[in-house]
Amino acid sequence: MNDGYLEHEKEVVYRVIAERRDMRHFLPTSIAPELLTKLLQAAHHAPSVGLMQPWRFIRISDIHLRKAIHAQVNEERMKTAQAIGEFETTARMAEFMRLKVEGVLDCGEVLIATLCDHREKHIFGRRTLPEMDMASVSCAIQNLWLAARAEGIGMGWVSMFDPVKLAKLLNIPDGAKPIAILCLGYVNSFYKEPMLVEEGWAKEKPLSEMLMENHWQDVDSK
Ligand SMILES: Cc1cc2nc3c(=O)[nH]c(=O)nc-3n(C[C@H](O)[C@H](O)[C@H](O)COP(=O)(O)O)c2cc1C
Repeated sequence: MNDGYLEHEKEVVYRVIAERRDMRHFLPTSIAPELLTKLLQAAHHAPSVGLMQPWRFIRISDIHLRKAIHAQVNEERMKTAQAIGEFETTARMAEFMRLKVEGVLDCGEVLIATLCDHREKHIFGRRTLPEMDMASVSCAIQNLWLAARAEGIGMGWVSMFDPVKLAKLLNIPDGAKPIAILCLGYVNSFYKEPMLVEEGWAKEKPLSEMLMENHWQDVDSK
């Protein structure tokens, strides 16, 4: 029995994976509520450690809250620039300041992806690796990202914020933790390559540098 998919169906899956991009430029067009639900259902299909399903999503519909979130991101962006200036170079800091690192005010929808509270009760698969809860939420976010790309909707993952301050703003209880500000929306066009590559900030490394056999090998010795 072959439980695989047809050739052209497989091609689409690989294409969506390759053509998914982290987007920061959006059109103001809103996303239909049924489509947003469909995307969130795709996120909810994600695997999770011990079937813990630790993801919680907060949809931000209040424009004042959206502005307050943007202000928090901007504050952290300035602190990040300062840290780059201290630990790297001032030229690198100036380059960072020229990058667009979020589209919070421009996108159609803002979702906050949050780790649930009371995670300590879940031991299956987390006794030695408690961070598997974060890995599970990341799987849900990736599902959302890919489903959105297939629908022609861009998504940007913003992690430039102080989780304690954001938790306070959104009444997130102790023990729960916001891990991503997700900007979703229609776009003019998807970047052909990661925007950080297009802007000359970073270079992508090939798979061959990440792949080892039997034992750890330093990249330089490969
Ligand atoms: C966990 C995580 C956090 C990220 N945080 C940010 C962020 O705060 N700001 C930003 O501009 N991009 C952020 N990104 C996007 C990455 O910069 C992007 O994924 C990477 O440059 C590769 O580009 P691509 O996603 O288009 O392939 C984040 C991505 C991940 C997976």
